[in-house]
Amino acid sequence: MTLHIIIGAQWGDEGKGRMVDWLASQSDYVARFNGGDNAGHTVTVGKAIFKLHLLPSGIIHPHTIGLLGNGMVINPASLLTEMESLRTAGISVTPDRLHISPSAHLITPAHQAIDRALESARGRASIGTTGRGIGPAYTDKAARTGLRMGQMLQPDFQDRLQAHLENANRLLVLYGAATLEVAPILKTFASYKDSIAPYIADVAVEVHQALADGKTVLAEGAQGTLLDIDQGTYPFVTSSNTTAPGVLTGLGLGLQAAREARVIGVVKAFQTRVGGGPFPTELSGDLAARLRGSGSNPWDEYGTTTGRPRRVGWLDAVLLRYAVRLNGLTELVMTKLDILSGLETISICTAYQAGGITIDGLPFGEYGLGDVQPVYTHFPGWQADLQPVRRWQDLPLQAQEYLRQVSRLAGVPVRYASVGPEREQIVEVPES
Ligand code: IMP
Repeated sequence: MTLHIIIGAQWGDEGKGRMVDWLASQSDYVARFNGGDNAGHTVTVGKAIFKLHLLPSGIIHPHTIGLLGNGMVINPASLLTEMESLRTAGISVTPDRLHISPSAHLITPAHQAIDRALESARGRASIGTTGRGIGPAYTDKAARTGLRMGQMLQPDFQDRLQAHLENANRLLVLYGAATLEVAPILKTFASYKDSIAPYIADVAVEVHQALADGKTVLAEGAQGTLLDIDQGTYPFVTSSNTTAPGVLTGLGLGLQAAREARVIGVVKAFQTRVGGGPFPTELSGDLAARLRGSGSNPWDEYGTTTGRPRRVGWLDAVLLRYAVRLNGLTELVMTKLDILSGLETISICTAYQAGGITIDGLPFGEYGLGDVQPVYTHFPGWQADLQPVRRWQDLPLQAQEYLRQVSRLAGVPVRYASVGPEREQIVEVPES
């Protein structure tokens, strides 16, 4: 039984996609268990850049089978577009290598419209959602009024969809938003059925059997720990469980499956977040612009899904320890170490000042994070470009020290550090 789990240890956008892609070379199955097309995973292979929102990034490896678990919310229009764009890029996406749980929930245009209406009603308190209908789809799921992928194949689906759209229109009127034309949506959804039906399969049974047969399953988390609906910086979170325990409920696995799991946390060398919410180590001015990048490279700090510039700051080790505990992380992979090259000094937040005292954890769970002041430890930077480096001994001593300090502060080892966007731009960190 080999379950590998990749989790974002921050607010998402840690560079999980390329790490998944790398680990997928050793996996039989690659699975998504949460979220929907709010995710944006970029994988660079040679000159080709793949931007995946719904399909597991590991599907780019031809030997893998991709799974979309019951914990997901799936917009069929985005799904079919993404499948087609992969096919155009020469990746086979056929029913023998992509399986979708019938229990995953559907995202409809009504969910997207409600998402936008709710955000504008929130005004200055808006969450800054991706506008993909994620929250409203999970709201319907929890309210037991949602539509599921498997229902698309049922004879009464059109009636259910119509009732859903009419209900949504009543809500949209309440919010003063434009209502939706029902008939064209019904027609479009009717046209999806034949394209999607061959991919619907009992993912829970399949993943259970795969593990029982000794296959390697790589569960690919979307978003990050601090966006978890239960453990994140609520209400500035997404609407699913982004943390490792969500793998079990989101794929239909029992606790035994997690017993020997390798739980890899992906952490960026600095902190970023998109949307609203507290961010104790946030930077502004030249330093922020320097870390964010100009936007001319696909790996600069602009949202893959929305294109919004990301907020940036120093690495927050207090939040990293929180992520280690909540996910049971066994190791860390650090991304974008190369971006720190050229800085005189690099800072890590090691504790907070709150109400006149210094604390090394969160003030009260995730509450009160907006009121803390970061306490920094400063480290000397390095000047060398790290992008050509492939071996630990070729890293500047200051970069080695930075990685050692992050391991020490997190309480779990950083096992690998990426020094550029390409597949092979990775340095293995020796055990200390
Ligand atoms: P939603 O998931 O679209 O409802 O957005 C809720 C919050 O999560 C917003 O702050 C988004 O910016 C953030 N978010 C959602 N998906 C991602 C992601 O893949 N990376 C980073 N932030 C995300």
